[in-house]
Amino acid sequence: MNLIDGKAIAAQIKQEIAAEVAEIIAQGGKRPHLAAILVGHDGGSETYVESKVKACEACGFGSSLIRYEDTVTEEELLAKVRELNENPDIDWFIVQLPLPKHISEQKVIETIDYRKDVDGFHPVNVGRMSIGLPCYVSATPYGILELLKRYRIETSGKKCVVLGRSNIVGKPVASLMMQKAYPGDATVTVCHSRSKDLLKECREADILIAALGQPHFVKADMVKEGAVVIDVGTTRVPDATRPSGFKLTGDVLFDEVAPKCAYITPVPGGVGPMTIVSLMKNTLLAARKAIYS
Ligand code: GUN
Repeated sequence: MNLIDGKAIAAQIKQEIAAEVAEIIAQGGKRPHLAAILVGHDGGSETYVESKVKACEACGFGSSLIRYEDTVTEEELLAKVRELNENPDIDWFIVQLPLPKHISEQKVIETIDYRKDVDGFHPVNVGRMSIGLPCYVSATPYGILELLKRYRIETSGKKCVVLGRSNIVGKPVASLMMQKAYPGDATVTVCHSRSKDLLKECREADILIAALGQPHFVKADMVKEGAVVIDVGTTRVPDATRPSGFKLTGDVLFDEVAPKCAYITPVPGGVGPMTIVSLMKNTLLAARKAIYS
């Protein structure tokens, strides 16, 4: 079994980005800057945004955080998004999800100028990704593909099973794994809560990507000998023995599944660090005007 060390790969990519940023600055270019909007005080979102700000520092980017209480109205938030769209000093920004129930996430996402959408959530970016055009690819799928690439894992002709059909992970990663490219060229099956024979599908998978958000859903009997298992789950499970009061728990029962795998990602330290670093990669692409001029 080979452990896919997302933490180490992410650290390496941050160094690569920092070197590129130093070069941009040395050539008289502008320092890339990422703005983030955070609404409310959700523990997970606070941690994510804090990590994004730290990653910006490590990469040599500037960052700014715009905060609202969770009483902010949808119209106030949309007005801010429109203002950032128009502001020439703000090149790219993200709105951290989830948003409070009274705000339509879809409306907010669709209001962001797709050229400033380094999260890759706007329908224009999603659509361009699905037909293989240059775009901002959302961070988690991008991070998963980067791990497969850096570990030189064969994907062509492999059976890839994706558990979960979310807009942020399941759907985009399925789409990327079937595209005519490396990583890609896989035969992809997406399973979800209504799928009939999940066990059979999973057992046939050469590459199993678990993105359900259900702790320890994937057990050893669901995994083929020699499979590649990518665990996207990061559920906070209460744990009184830890200072934080919780333990980040993946969708895969690691101890039981790992001995059967050719490769597996741990939680934490697998896909999670790659998600943050992928947002940094998108920000660098934006700074280089590599996607939209
Ligand atoms: N919430 C969970 N993941 C993400 C992400 O990648 N971007 C944003 N904006 N919010 C999230």
